[in-house]
Amino acid sequence: MVDQVVLITGSTSGIGLAAAHAVAAAGNPVVLHGRRPDRVADAAARLTAEGLPVAAALTADLGDRAAVEQLAAEAGTLGVGVLVNNAGVYRRERTETAAGREVTWTVNHLHPTLLTVLLLDDLLDRGGRVVNTSAVVHGRARLDLDDPEFRTRRYNHFHAYANSKLANLLMAREFAGRVGPDSGVTFNALHPGVVSTALLTEGMRVEGHDPAEVAGAAVARLAVGAEVAGVTGCYFEGDVETEPSGPGLDDDLARRLHDDTMRDLGFD
Ligand SMILES: NC(=O)c1ccc[n+]([C@@H]2O[C@H](COP(=O)([O-])OP(=O)(O)OC[C@H]3O[C@@H](n4cnc5c(N)ncnc54)[C@H](OP(=O)(O)O)[C@@H]3O)[C@@H](O)[C@H]2O)c1
Repeated sequence: MVDQVVLITGSTSGIGLAAAHAVAAAGNPVVLHGRRPDRVADAAARLTAEGLPVAAALTADLGDRAAVEQLAAEAGTLGVGVLVNNAGVYRRERTETAAGREVTWTVNHLHPTLLTVLLLDDLLDRGGRVVNTSAVVHGRARLDLDDPEFRTRRYNHFHAYANSKLANLLMAREFAGRVGPDSGVTFNALHPGVVSTALLTEGMRVEGHDPAEVAGAAVARLAVGAEVAGVTGCYFEGDVETEPSGPGLDDDLARRLHDDTMRDLGFD
């Protein structure tokens, strides 16, 4: 295992909480995160009750750019060396943030990318890692970079979610290629499994068949496992490195997504 402080977004429940447990059980101080202070405090209490190391419990709505900037500043102060972009939503209806941005695209892709970019110098200094929690449904995405927020097309909840999970996978690969294998920071994406969480049962309205602990362990392995040191730009299903499917193989789409996203976030 590596020796790093690990920020896991969306670690109040489901796969993120299981991953936080596994990361902390491996001896790495974990920074918990969620949208609601009571749920973050509950998660911290559960881990500390088992004697597991919790470095901090932070609250930030990933739909709010200022809150993400604050989260990045706090993570930098805490010495975070591994970022797990895990928080996610599945919205059955098209909804917008207070800033008028479509929620699925913003919470699942745009603002995790913002957090990654804001932490990148720290991660480079610390020989860190970025892990994006993608999903196997990336292969069924229909990403239209002219309208990723469904402003002109009729909203399709499955495609909105799958598009954001495709973006998680493509951004990990594109960042890996741009910083290069010798940079000291690695970027990978994974499908953690199919787990009966709120996102799956209330959002997608399907039942899972994998235990949260197994999915959490797969996330934790990519975050702190010694066996994947130096591995970058890869996609995993559970612990198995796998070729992405469908648009997940499209390098030109990855490049255009990266450039559009950086422009959107004001980084070019
Ligand atoms: N479940 C599956 O079968 C499955 C399969 C493939 C991929 N995934 C991916 O796994 C990740 C975790 O999902 P899950 O299934 O474990 O779902 P979950 O139990 O519903 O957890 C979602 C987490 O994201 C946080 N979150 C949601 N909206 C947020 C926001 N606006 N700001 C900050 N945090 C927010 C939640 O925090 P609060 O509790 O504070 O709201 C919660 O901690 C997601 O990226 C999902 O796409 C899941």
